[in-house]
Amino acid sequence: MIEGGLKKNSITLVSGGCGAGKSIFCMNYIYAGAMAGENGLYVTFEETAHELKDNMSSFGWDLDGLEQEGKIKIVRIPREDILRIVKDEYSEIKDYLDEVKAKRVVIDSISGIEQGIANEVERRDAVLKLCEWLKEHECTTLITSEAEQEPLAYSRHETVEFLVDGVIILYNIRHGNKRLKALEVLKMRGTKHTLGLFPIRISKGIEVFQNAEIF
Ligand SMILES: Nc1ncnc2c1ncn2[C@@H]1O[C@H](COP(=O)(O)OP(=O)(O)OP(=O)(O)O)[C@@H](O)[C@H]1O
Ligand SMILES: [Mg+2]
Repeated sequence: MIEGGLKKNSITLVSGGCGAGKSIFCMNYIYAGAMAGENGLYVTFEETAHELKDNMSSFGWDLDGLEQEGKIKIVRIPREDILRIVKDEYSEIKDYLDEVKAKRVVIDSISGIEQGIANEVERRDAVLKLCEWLKEHECTTLITSEAEQEPLAYSRHETVEFLVDGVIILYNIRHGNKRLKALEVLKMRGTKHTLGLFPIRISKGIEVFQNAEIF
């Protein structure tokens, strides 16, 4: 769908409504990376590491084992620490990055950072700085963002989607008395990506059915 994979050093926004599968998609990315020899750092501003692992325990991913082997690290940053971390230019996250020698990074979610900063200019600046910082540190990143179930805007403040290299949208579409989960690659700079929505299934992580029609 994206000509073989995410570009090294790129940032991709994973946007969607509640329960659309953003966190699962991102953990699947970290897990697959660890299995392929690319270490990963998952930074969460939402659920605790324990809750994340517990919610994904049915997928058969040995996240605890990978963490013990030093291949992945899952870190939760409480909301009250966000301003301090932004002011310190993300030095705490840099320590975690170095500790695990991460090539893949997940920030879940950007809304968590945005909500911690009331001033609009400061908020935009923090998001911009985070994107610059991630590029400097040579990691390939997924950033989640909360949106509607069938979004027309892809982040709360409609900024970050223009700063990043790619946007993937996860949908929870109501169709009659059912809801269907789907995935769309909306933007992927430098890539001849698929156009349109494709059904997804959450069972052992996320599976995309690239040859199926959503309706
Ligand atoms: N074992 C499973 N089998 C099938 N579907 C599952 C399973 N576990 C979770 N799901 C689906 O995935 C959803 C949760 O996914 P996830 O936590 O990734 O969502 P999210 O987009 O991160 O949501 P939020 O915005 O609330 O953080 C559940 O609401 C459910 O629909
Ligand atoms: Mg989530």
